[in-house]
Amino acid sequence: MESSEARGRILKMNILVTGAAGYVGSVCAAELANQKHQVVGYDNLTTGHRGALSAGMAFVEGDIADAAKIKRVCREYQIQAVMHFAASALVDVSIRDPHPFYQNNVSGSLALLGALVEEGVKKLVFSSSAAVYGEPKEAPITEDHPTQPLSPYGETKLVLERALAWYQRAYGLDCIALRYFNVAGATGELGEDHRPETHLLPRLLDVVTNSQAAFSIYGDDYPTRDGTCVRDYVHVADIAQAHILALGKLQEIGCGVYNIGHGEGNSIREVIRTVEKVTGKPVRASVAPRRAGDPATLVASPQKIMRELGWQPRQSDLVTIVKSAWQWRQTHPNGYCEAKGRSN
Ligand code: UFG
Repeated sequence: MESSEARGRILKMNILVTGAAGYVGSVCAAELANQKHQVVGYDNLTTGHRGALSAGMAFVEGDIADAAKIKRVCREYQIQAVMHFAASALVDVSIRDPHPFYQNNVSGSLALLGALVEEGVKKLVFSSSAAVYGEPKEAPITEDHPTQPLSPYGETKLVLERALAWYQRAYGLDCIALRYFNVAGATGELGEDHRPETHLLPRLLDVVTNSQAAFSIYGDDYPTRDGTCVRDYVHVADIAQAHILALGKLQEIGCGVYNIGHGEGNSIREVIRTVEKVTGKPVRASVAPRRAGDPATLVASPQKIMRELGWQPRQSDLVTIVKSAWQWRQTHPNGYCEAKGRSN
């Protein structure tokens, strides 16, 4: 008889989610728990929030660099697969201060991988980034586009992708790396709450909810249709679905790299206009100098992930993304920390 995995459904697994209290990690962990996997969240809570941890999962506070703790968790919960989100993730900060990025994203991740190899865990979905490509030579970007990162952040993600290919060959650790383009939006309960906040959409929502807050467009002299940077915004719920599809195909694929993007770009000015339309409030924006490490245009070709994993960007049109983020902002005006205001 045909197994349920063979029919395309994923067998229930014990899954370790690193960075489970972070933005993308929390949404993926919640969706895995929703699908009745046994989820163990793992996070050092330096940037993540306890409030982002879903009730339906176990949680261990710890650092990915703590290999002994990872090994204990793998044994205690009989971990069969890992989704690895934990990382330092701000592109421009990585240029000013690369060391923590190499420490967390490379050293920390290698400690995690070493522990998984020792414990015989053979399945990993890795959170990579469009930042591995650098300045695009073509749009949309396919997975075989040259990788020349413009930031230590992108470089650290690429180092891991390359290590993972060798680990798969040597240790049989199957891995799919998902190169996210610009993740945005919220689910009913879970949303974006970075402190300080630097990402475009939450910064725009800061401005429409706080008359004291100012918004700067970082550069309007890029070679794009209106001079502002163009990005491919993807709804965080679509990102979570890509992880679940990747998990189901890990054994079959062995080692692979996929873009997750909508396939269409929006400029900063287009995002501003959409925020004004959805919220009914004006955005006061001024133009500031370019931010280091920003390519002019980053738009994905999602053909490979659609073809090979059956992924579809169901909620990634800009209006749906902005509406969901606006709804979450209204229900969570202080994000996950009721006591602390947002930084502006
Ligand atoms: N921007 C502004 N003003 C702001 C904030 C952002 O003009 O106050 C601009 C940025 O300069 C950029 C665009 O809005 O042109 C998007 O910026 P974000 O900071 O929201 O996102 P990034 O494109 O810098 O980075 C995101 C992720 C990275 C990932 C990258 C890949 O944070 O991890 O997308 O596309 F690598």
